[in-house]
Amino acid sequence: MNSDATVMAQSMTEQIVSLARRTSSLIGRKLSSAIVLVFNNKNAGSFGALAGFTLAIVFAWKFMRSPDRPPRRRRRNTPPTSNNGLASVEPSNSEVYPQLLNAKDLDAIQAFDDHANFTLGQVVRKKLNGGRKVTCQLLGILLEEKSSIELQAHATFKLSVLEVLSELSRTCDLYLMETVEDDESEERVLAALQDVGVFKTGGLVREKVLFCGTENGRSSFVRQLEPDWHIDTNPVVVSNLTRFIRYQLHISSAVTSSVMASNVSTSSSLEKFFSF
Ligand SMILES: *[C@@H]1O[C@H](CO)[C@@H](O)[C@H](O)[C@H]1NC(C)=O
Ligand SMILES: *[C@@H]1O[C@H](CO)[C@@H](O)[C@H](O)[C@H]1NC(C)=O
Ligand SMILES: *[C@@H]1O[C@H](CO)[C@@H](O)[C@H](O)[C@H]1NC(C)=O
Repeated sequence: MNSDATVMAQSMTEQIVSLARRTSSLIGRKLSSAIVLVFNNKNAGSFGALAGFTLAIVFAWKFMRSPDRPPRRRRRNTPPTSNNGLASVEPSNSEVYPQLLNAKDLDAIQAFDDHANFTLGQVVRKKLNGGRKVTCQLLGILLEEKSSIELQAHATFKLSVLEVLSELSRTCDLYLMETVEDDESEERVLAALQDVGVFKTGGLVREKVLFCGTENGRSSFVRQLEPDWHIDTNPVVVSNLTRFIRYQLHISSAVTSSVMASNVSTSSSLEKFFSF
């Protein structure tokens, strides 16, 4: 071995020792101590042997940092100096694995919940949150028409809501109400409801369909009936009733509906609210 090579080897030794010290927390104190011992030994091999060790350390380093190994979490209450050799890698890994499994378990539970086959009755009871008495506006919720003016010409039951309405009339003490312009509109609405058979199932009878002349009148009906839930499209009615009615459902097609109280839910349709 010539003197140049010896100087080079000594300088490399210093660099490797310092690298080993810096990486001690990663590869473990025992292993790094062994490397320090080997390189501090004056009799330790030639330049070639040093190069070999360097390669070994580089591969060990790469392996430790390899991205396909599970992410390692630093143990917060253990200072790095108390890292006791390679054995310390085990507890931190066993800390990681249960975490991954728990996350998967949660996902599985979530997926099961999402796809669980609840009956409509179960969904309705769950959403009503214990509520038994329900009042509901007709226009824009159970009828295709959106204004009392339209009811002077026709009344069309919204068939997509029939299943939910039948379930509500079985499950709850349900009252329907609407503001109308005249008696003919009332008859049109009752005929539309009768035609789809809503008075045949559940507890809904013609006497529980109430008509009034103004939006204020509808608010008064609701306050007199004191339902657990009121369902309405008019934001003014909903906000006026907030103080008196435990839960309300505001049916609104507006994407950003106005900020309502915490006890007011919003949905684009009744059937969508009672879906899962
Ligand atoms: C859910 O239940 C209904 C009736 O009980 C059945 O017709 C339907 O296929 C079920 N769906 C799933 C995804 O299991
Ligand atoms: C809402 O409340 C205000 C003030 O109490 C009242 O003037 C208004 O007529 C009410 N409107 C409806 C639709 O209930
Ligand atoms: C509904 O919530 C509002 C505020 O979020 C509250 O002021 C009101 O008293 C609540 N109504 C009922 C009946 O609990």
